[in-house]
Amino acid sequence: MSDFVIETNNLTKQYGEQKSVANLSIHVKKGRIYGLLGRNGAGKTTTMKMLLGLTSPTSGEVRIFGKNMHTNEKKILSRIGNLIESPSFYPNLTGTENLKIMARLRGVPGSNAIKKALDVVGLPYKDKKLFSQYSLGMKQRLGIANAILHDPELLILDEPINGLDPIGIVEVRDFIKRLSTEQGKTILISSHILSEMALLADDIGIIDHGVLLEEESLSELEKKNSRYVHFIVTDTSQASRILETEFHTSNFHIDDDYNLRLYDTEIEVAAITRKWIESGLNISEAHTQNDTLEDYFKHVTGGEGIA
Ligand SMILES: Nc1ncnc2c1ncn2[C@@H]1O[C@H](COP(=O)(O)OP(=O)(O)O)[C@@H](O)[C@H]1O
Ligand SMILES: [Mg+2]
Repeated sequence: MSDFVIETNNLTKQYGEQKSVANLSIHVKKGRIYGLLGRNGAGKTTTMKMLLGLTSPTSGEVRIFGKNMHTNEKKILSRIGNLIESPSFYPNLTGTENLKIMARLRGVPGSNAIKKALDVVGLPYKDKKLFSQYSLGMKQRLGIANAILHDPELLILDEPINGLDPIGIVEVRDFIKRLSTEQGKTILISSHILSEMALLADDIGIIDHGVLLEEESLSELEKKNSRYVHFIVTDTSQASRILETEFHTSNFHIDDDYNLRLYDTEIEVAAITRKWIESGLNISEAHTQNDTLEDYFKHVTGGEGIA
């Protein structure tokens, strides 16, 4: 049996000519928060819908809890909580009343489960406020409370922090973390916000145009953040020629006429500047920097990067 709570093999969804998800193989480990990161339209929602059997894959396989989703759907779904599209709550009922109906529909006994779920997301139990009077943040919280009502082992949350205000974001992030650390839930969460994923996820899968570009633990990704020396010199083309001929490296990047980034950090900076000065160049700056995660994502997605 595999160690993964979710495992997909070459999962593909094709709409007409377009592959919204293409040969996606992701691996979500038990007890971890896995962040599916990608721009709008990258294929995150489609992937989650296939995981939950809400839309059928064109090809490929979904395995959850080590079992084939297709042939074990009922059993598997009872162990998953999800927030994909906003659940349809009744506007003229309170949050607690709405959850009571949801609980009954799903066969969750007792009001204790409702109390507990509301408590996790920081909503009051038996509050008088109607759902129609809820702020977007409260609606989102109620959606998550609904997802955890039956105490599922696995949570699948599609962009749960979308549209929240900054305080709401911090709070939702905190209770998602607590669900993982205190209750050992496995959580798959999607976002198009890189900085948010960096604060929340243990593992990250980067998806772009339906394709999984990277799958790595956050700490590995952060290690990959390349160090470089940033030079400002009077003539980067001459400077680069010297790097090639004298130091036998081509691991650098010329930004413009004056700025050059050297990724080959084995070479002594003083030796380089000495050679450059000897050949008549002036150097106004030389310092070591790290690429940010953001630069890294720009690099792997080959474009504008992700917010
Ligand atoms: N029902 C559908 N019919 C046709 N195209 C769809 C459908 N659902 C999604 N798509 C397309 O699939 C791509 C991925 O969409 P989606 O999974 O919603 O991306 P994300 O959630 O990452 O923003 C988009 O180009 C979208 O237009
Ligand atoms: Mg989406």
